Amino acid sequence: MPAPVRTAVFPVAGRGTRFLPATKAVPKEMLPIVDKPLMQLAVEEAVQAGATRLVFITHSSKRAIEDHFDIDADLERALEEGGKTELLATLRGILPRDVSCVYIRQGEPLGLGHAVLCARPAVGDEPFFVHLPDDLIRAETGCLAQMAREFAGHGNSLIAVEDVPREKTSSYGIVAVDDELRMQKIVEKPAPADAPSTLAVVGRYLLTPRVFDKLETTGRGAGGEIQLTDAIADLLADETVRAYRFDGKRYDCGNKLGYVQANLDYALADPELAAGLQGVARS
Ligand code: G1P
Repeated sequence: MPAPVRTAVFPVAGRGTRFLPATKAVPKEMLPIVDKPLMQLAVEEAVQAGATRLVFITHSSKRAIEDHFDIDADLERALEEGGKTELLATLRGILPRDVSCVYIRQGEPLGLGHAVLCARPAVGDEPFFVHLPDDLIRAETGCLAQMAREFAGHGNSLIAVEDVPREKTSSYGIVAVDDELRMQKIVEKPAPADAPSTLAVVGRYLLTPRVFDKLETTGRGAGGEIQLTDAIADLLADETVRAYRFDGKRYDCGNKLGYVQANLDYALADPELAAGLQGVARS
């Protein structure tokens, strides 16, 4: 049986310039979907999948993430004294007690592959999740939990994928797979004419630790950055890596349209807000 996956890595050092001015002083991962920051939705997904150690690869401009997952004793006391028990429970429920957080600074913006390599000392010699909080996936069973279940069966690395229009291939890692979704090829951000398929990598990975050895020697790739995609391409020579078609709806919250769409869908799923929104639509 493959080892259980206990660690989730969140590469969150990147600045969110697309959302300026909102992200001047607020990390893009702290933007809310209705009332929960994207970062909290990401953590909830990882915890649902069994992660008990959360590794944030972060930056000096992202301190609000640490604060969010820390205990705010003053606020808790004020809520307790004010009899606001429901809010208090909400606050205390942000992070289960058996889950620990590790924060590692990525001093230089050298790319996603470099960010994942920064997590090596905290992950050790175990399989681990990588979660990119910009990619929000709404699903009954979270995408990482789906992947953990599949991994328990075969122990192969898994990369979540979905189909995209051909004109969008240059925004994604693109994979070629065989009939059983075993990866044959993976390329970072190919031009539509060069893309081996239209199956795109979305921000969920379940990786065996051998990828760290590959990352140690991965040079700069697309955009001059050290790409996780290139290390996974190297891994294909040694191990089976599988694409994983998840159940659920993905929102690209790294752009405004995806972010607004996610807020609308999450609001419409809340009966109280949905009723109010229908009122707005009528007026
Ligand atoms: C990263 C990965 C890319 C993947 C994408 C998913 O790119 O490098 O392979 O398809 O996330 O969101 P980024 O969007 O960080 O440029």
